[in-house]
Amino acid sequence: MSQTGPSRHGDHGDDGDDHGGDPGGGGPQDRPHPVFARLYARASARMDAEGLADLRAELVRGLAGTVVEVGAGNGRMFAHYPPGVTRVQAVEPEPSLRALATAAAASAPVPVTVRPGTAERLPLPDRSADAAVLCLVLCSVADPRAAVAEVVRVLRPGGTVRFLEHAVAPTRGLRVVQRTLDATVWPLLTGGCHTSRDPVGTLTAAGVAVTDLRALRYPVTQVPTPVTHHVLGSARTPGGAP
Ligand SMILES: C[S@@+](CC[C@H](N)C(=O)[O-])C[C@H]1O[C@@H](n2cnc3c(N)ncnc32)[C@H](O)[C@@H]1O
Repeated sequence: MSQTGPSRHGDHGDDGDDHGGDPGGGGPQDRPHPVFARLYARASARMDAEGLADLRAELVRGLAGTVVEVGAGNGRMFAHYPPGVTRVQAVEPEPSLRALATAAAASAPVPVTVRPGTAERLPLPDRSADAAVLCLVLCSVADPRAAVAEVVRVLRPGGTVRFLEHAVAPTRGLRVVQRTLDATVWPLLTGGCHTSRDPVGTLTAAGVAVTDLRALRYPVTQVPTPVTHHVLGSARTPGGAP
């Protein structure tokens, strides 16, 4: 994937706290899911060991400048940011995951600030970042279209969006299972996750041009499950230099 250059706007919205930021909040932007948060904190380490860590590294390869990470969870992305990244503004609405992300920020290889907030209302100024990272998050937000509109707002024109997301299964049978799960227990068990959303369609509908796209299976299992299918890619927001 191509490299994205630093913004002329610099890193606005910076509170000067290089590692950590304000993990607190307790405000209207919080989305507490304490049981899911406890489970995800444990499961994410296993998921990384099962191949997700490699995908995370691929997701942010070549990024540079200021990055917004939406729905940062417990901060498992932070270790993967390359040295060209000058600042990560991480936004996470779940209080316990945000506290874990704040702890992870302290040992990140690049400066990371963790803030309360939601994807639908990012606590960042217009055109203040060069790139956005969406890792397993459009599946969980309440309003994916609003989330992508916010990403477009906070990125400079022609900014880079990197995404790794659940994808609609290629077979009809699995799509039926995905939709059934999404309409019943899956979001309840997983902090609001949906397996059958179409992140590429949502980005494209917002005028974000997908420039790289790879369909993949993760985790690799003999028989694909409703959560196996993912897309990993890069996209560009409207405007900017041709
Ligand atoms: C499956 S976890 C992924 C966490 C992290 N991105 C990672 O790669 O490990 C989904 C994350 O989305 C967050 N989330 C849920 N609703 C959100 C919203 N409306 N805005 C931002 N993040 C949200 C959750 O709190 C959780 O941290």
